[in-house]
Amino acid sequence: MTKTSKISGFYKLGIQERTKIVKEFSGLSDDDITILQSEGLKLEQADKMIENVIGIMKVPLGIALNFTINGKDYLIPMATEEPSVVAAASNAAKIARGSGGFKTSSTEPIMIGQIQIIAENPERAKGIILENKEKILSIANAQDSTLIKLGGGTKDIDVRIISTNSGKMVILHLLVDVRDAMGANAVNTMAEAVAPFIEEITNCKVLLRIISNLATERLAMAEVIMKRGIIGDDAVEGIIDAYQFAVSDPYRAVTHNKGIMNGITSIVLATGNDTRAVEAGVHGYAAIGGKYKPLTTWEKNKDGDLVGRIEIPVAVGIVGGATINPVARASLKILGVKTARELSEIIAAVGLAQNFAALKALATEGIQRGHMSLHARNIAVMAGAKDNEIDRIAEILVNEKKIRLERAKELVKSGG
Ligand code: MEV
Repeated sequence: MTKTSKISGFYKLGIQERTKIVKEFSGLSDDDITILQSEGLKLEQADKMIENVIGIMKVPLGIALNFTINGKDYLIPMATEEPSVVAAASNAAKIARGSGGFKTSSTEPIMIGQIQIIAENPERAKGIILENKEKILSIANAQDSTLIKLGGGTKDIDVRIISTNSGKMVILHLLVDVRDAMGANAVNTMAEAVAPFIEEITNCKVLLRIISNLATERLAMAEVIMKRGIIGDDAVEGIIDAYQFAVSDPYRAVTHNKGIMNGITSIVLATGNDTRAVEAGVHGYAAIGGKYKPLTTWEKNKDGDLVGRIEIPVAVGIVGGATINPVARASLKILGVKTARELSEIIAAVGLAQNFAALKALATEGIQRGHMSLHARNIAVMAGAKDNEIDRIAEILVNEKKIRLERAKELVKSGG
């Protein structure tokens, strides 16, 4: 039986009922549930991850529903402290189901390792490096036999001469297929291993040897059609105008992209990946043409439906690195991804969904209404409401708030 991520009334269920559904969908074990709900990352494990550990910072992990990506349904674990993000992604994905969901693709997982060469005669150094390409590839690929066995490794090099305030420099790029890893370790090891050989053949000094987080060779793309029959013509027009605002104004583009990152960072964090690496790469990519741009595009097709697209660098792994965090491993199990590319495509789809949800709300009713009802739910919970009472009490609170708002407006009008 094909599994569906469309589960009605999920948010109304109690935590344990929701857990049961996710467990069945994803094949989580009882141990996984213990990890997710009580054990989490242990202090001793945390102590091995970073320095000077004294505690563990917890973040809520929610499940976004309704996602169909390339015909397959996914439940999406999202780690975020921000209310509305999970609900908004789920709503957008529900609307997207009306046109078959998201279509995604990705490039090979190629990361760039940079080697900075200080050369008096840059052209000469560049020529020597290019002549020695095969030897450079073999030194790099001798560093990681596992990666080579899996079909990865340094596949090519690129050499550029750049002008800086300290004079010209030769920049060698190692183009490394990192397969299912995020790749920083493999790439940095290779760059450091190649450097002495570069110094030897060019007689120049090598300075930096480090991965570039502008992962332009590791892109994920997603596309979605939001039917005008479902969202209405006003929403179609409003979202296109909101998008055009972001195209022409960097102040808006940054906020537009922040909304996208609400979705992206939540899965990157949930899966134990490096949020800063992805964020730096994504924002760099947004400005790659010399002007900071929105990461999505929105336009109308010939049927008047809304078509959204996203293209972003996504350097994430499903092995190694921070995925040693047991909660991250449980998140990967919920997703059921088999490759880092599959994960990167899901991330692109969620970013696109998140952007749609934000623009739709902003271009129609505004985002405060949704925030108000979530806030009301939180108050109901704080007051000790039982699971089956929360929605009803929240609705009453929202109505009361509306009445008070109207009263306040009257008071303002009458001069207090
Ligand atoms: C809030 O976290 C995100 C939004 O500001 C995004 C946007 O304005 O597009 C709502």
